[in-house]
Amino acid sequence: MAVVNPHQFFDLPAESPDTLPYFHAVLGDGQLFRYVESERESANTAVERFFAGYFGKEAAVAVANGTVGLRLSLQAAGVKPGDRVLVSAYSFIACAMAVASVGAVPVPMDMDTALTVDAAALKAAEGPVAAVMVVHVQGHAVPVGRVRELCDALGVPLIEDVCQGVGAASPDGRAGALADIAVTSFQQSKQISSGEGGLVAGTADLVERVYRLSDLGAVRHGGGLPDWDDERAVMADNLRLTELQAALVMDQATALDDTLARQRANRARLKEALGSQVTVLDSEHPAGDSGSHTLFVARTASDAQQFCAALKAEDVVARVVWKKTFLEYGVFRQSGLTDELSSQQWPKTAVALGPRILSVPVSKYVPESGVARVAEAVLNHRQHLAREW
Ligand SMILES: Cc1ncc(COP(=O)(O)O)c(C=O)c1O
Repeated sequence: MAVVNPHQFFDLPAESPDTLPYFHAVLGDGQLFRYVESERESANTAVERFFAGYFGKEAAVAVANGTVGLRLSLQAAGVKPGDRVLVSAYSFIACAMAVASVGAVPVPMDMDTALTVDAAALKAAEGPVAAVMVVHVQGHAVPVGRVRELCDALGVPLIEDVCQGVGAASPDGRAGALADIAVTSFQQSKQISSGEGGLVAGTADLVERVYRLSDLGAVRHGGGLPDWDDERAVMADNLRLTELQAALVMDQATALDDTLARQRANRARLKEALGSQVTVLDSEHPAGDSGSHTLFVARTASDAQQFCAALKAEDVVARVVWKKTFLEYGVFRQSGLTDELSSQQWPKTAVALGPRILSVPVSKYVPESGVARVAEAVLNHRQHLAREW
């Protein structure tokens, strides 16, 4: 029997040519490079305009993936080797790796059990901080208002990692809206997917710097080669997005409101079917969740594994989100970069829950009957789930 809740939120074969006009336009003219040589507007340009608007920023630039987006954002914001960058403790390793890749030190920022960063932890951070990176987890938006105020007081940029949070909102607004720099990903498991891809949104000045860093260091005028004689040219890599990827992103971006409404309806159905027999790990403002994932907390780490295996046997996807904080991985311990961060402070709060946090994705493609099956599978194995934490 087919898995009823695929991890991906974009199912290309399930779509029709009507729902993929950008994609078919690119297939039609064969212009796969972002600098198109036809009358058609570059899909990359359309994506950049859409997301600059979506995140409420002056500009945006499409890049090869979310990790690169984070790294180039840090570089463009002037983060230097040896600088300390606060990063949500419960986050994907790519967040801390992006910091490490510019030679800076990722310092975990504690989070509470609603996966909200603890603003007090930011305030209490020992030593100077060059930037703050808040990560929105599995479609649950972190309310970043207080963090924004503290960043303003410290005079440092706030980067919001919206790779898992496109469309999510907290009482402080849409994920990414309060950031100086919003970064998202279009990787396979993301809300909007082109297999790989990413985007950085921010001020026009910052975005131009990221653009240079992602396109061989210089700006192209009129579609020609970059102007490497420009005194602002820098040595840089090629980290562009292709037109095929951008077209797929644009087709999903134009359908985003409808997608979110369908996902939220499915999530509401799932929660209703679970009723009071199971406790869901909700954000502080569940109505604002994008609805992509429903989270639970297992009784123990071993229960978490057993729950995932039991659901898999019923063809339902459940995953432990992240088992460890980045500090706990060998790659960070061996790097020596984070040695000074005493391990006895970790794990805390949500981070301590880490190996027990379970995620069940339900995409818009899942029919009502599929949602009922997911609910049944969760209920069948609820003995593995904690009622409180
Ligand atoms: C929270 C978070 N940040 C960053 C990334 C990195 O994005 P990418 O895979 O596009 O490099 C991902 C996903 O992979 C993610 O989930």
